[in-house]
Amino acid sequence: MKSTTTPTTTLLSTTLTLSLLLFLSLLTRSLSAERCHPHDKKVLLQIKQSFNNPYFLASWNPTITNDCCDWYVVECDHATNRINSLTLFGGFQRGGNLSGQIPAAIGDLPFLETLILHKLENLTGTIPTAIAKLSRLKTLWLSWTNLTGPVPSFLSQLKNLEFLDLSFNYLTGSIPMELSLLQNIVGISLDRNNLTGPIPDWRFTGNVPGIDLSHNKLTGSIPKSFGYYNYTRIDFSRNMLSGNLSFMFGSNKTTQIFDFSRNMFEFNLSNVVFPASLLSLNLNHNKIFGSLPVGLTALNNFQFLNVSYNRLCGKIPTGGKLQSFDATAYFHNRCLCGAPLTAC
Ligand SMILES: *[C@@H]1O[C@H](CO)[C@@H](O)[C@H](O)[C@H]1NC(C)=O
Ligand SMILES: *[C@@H]1O[C@H](CO)[C@@H](O)[C@H](O)[C@H]1NC(C)=O
Ligand SMILES: *[C@@H]1O[C@H](CO)[C@@H](O)[C@H](O)[C@H]1NC(C)=O
Ligand SMILES: *[C@@H]1O[C@H](CO)[C@@H](O)[C@H](O)[C@H]1NC(C)=O
Ligand SMILES: *[C@@H]1O[C@H](CO)[C@@H](O)[C@H](O)[C@H]1NC(C)=O
Ligand SMILES: *[C@@H]1O[C@H](CO)[C@@H](O)[C@H](O)[C@H]1NC(C)=O
Ligand SMILES: *[C@@H]1O[C@H](CO)[C@@H](O)[C@H](O)[C@H]1NC(C)=O
Ligand SMILES: *[C@@H]1O[C@H](CO)[C@@H](O)[C@H](O)[C@H]1NC(C)=O
Ligand SMILES: *[C@@H]1O[C@H](CO)[C@@H](O)[C@H](O)[C@H]1NC(C)=O
Repeated sequence: MKSTTTPTTTLLSTTLTLSLLLFLSLLTRSLSAERCHPHDKKVLLQIKQSFNNPYFLASWNPTITNDCCDWYVVECDHATNRINSLTLFGGFQRGGNLSGQIPAAIGDLPFLETLILHKLENLTGTIPTAIAKLSRLKTLWLSWTNLTGPVPSFLSQLKNLEFLDLSFNYLTGSIPMELSLLQNIVGISLDRNNLTGPIPDWRFTGNVPGIDLSHNKLTGSIPKSFGYYNYTRIDFSRNMLSGNLSFMFGSNKTTQIFDFSRNMFEFNLSNVVFPASLLSLNLNHNKIFGSLPVGLTALNNFQFLNVSYNRLCGKIPTGGKLQSFDATAYFHNRCLCGAPLTAC
């Protein structure tokens, strides 16, 4: 059958198609109107340059993607369209070639709530004071990098901070007292650095955070103030801490996880009362003496115990979870006996 299409109808349909395409492209352009704040875009480009233009941040390029809210590893707040999150996870090539110090320009992203610089082995230098300007910050992780210098006391100016993680760096010096001014703090992790001096006599007046100070070179005894608070989780393992830990326990507390292993704590465990909330207790490699209190058999939520390498004596109380733990949880003491060790 012969086609009924005439040159006129072809022209008409072409025109219609063209206007439809034009309309669609205008619509798309208005939908994708740039959200990015020009100030934030400028600052991100400065940060990229300070990090030596890593391949990782290739998408931070206005000629490729104009809207910085669409750039890699950043996020914009939906209401304000301001950059509220910068999350650089390196490791296994992804952070490849990112080198240099944390640029002061990072303090010029005033709407940041999350700042994560993680597993970036060539990130060096100290934690810049400019970070204190980020008053909306809730999450600050600077971890597994080559950062040096102190844990800065100016971090206490970040009134909204909830999570502070500075673990796996080369930080030195003592831990600032001022961190207990953080009212909303939920977790403090300063583990695996080279921190020295005593644990500060922190007096939290807002939230009581979980605390990890393990794998440092902290000395002295634990301040008495730690006995007043209900810490859910404390890890002070692998330091050079000493003294009597008895005051950290008590029936009154809501403690769940305590790790004091590999220190030099020295006290009599016989009369210590443990809170019913206890899930995990690690005391290995200290100088703890006396015997295991019978109260340990009454802990219903108990999942982990290790008192090995101490100076404990006497029969392991029978009952509760105590016989379900491996013999290595008890070995290398002065004269502990009974299941799961050999009979007394
Ligand atoms: C950046 O890293 C990639 C892979 O990680 C490597 O192929 C490239 O040579 C590096 N570039 C520079 C300039 O170092
Ligand atoms: C870090 O820097 C060293 C020396 O310049 C280089 O060999 C290494 O590939 C860099 N690592 C990353 C992840 O960029
Ligand atoms: C980062 O620290 C490691 C371990 O100390 C070291 O081997 C490496 O050279 C450091 N890299 C830089 C860029 O400082
Ligand atoms: C800590 O300092 C000692 C020297 O005092 C050094 O040998 C060690 O590599 C440092 N470790 C870290 C994680 O910085
Ligand atoms: C329990 O804690 C309260 C304060 O929170 C205190 O007054 C009381 O003496 C404590 N009781 C015991 C048995 O420690
Ligand atoms: C710990 O919390 C429990 C339960 O909320 C409370 O009864 C107890 O008094 C608190 N103890 C301390 C020392 O604040
Ligand atoms: C440790 O402190 C507890 C109470 O906090 C006390 O009863 C005990 O005598 C102290 N000394 C030793 C060596 O346990
Ligand atoms: C530990 O305390 C208990 C109970 O007060 C006591 O009987 C025991 O002799 C003490 N052990 C040591 C080694 O001081
Ligand atoms: C207890 O700790 C010791 C020393 O680190 C370790 O050898 C042993 O395997 C641990 N046992 C358990 C059950 O955690």
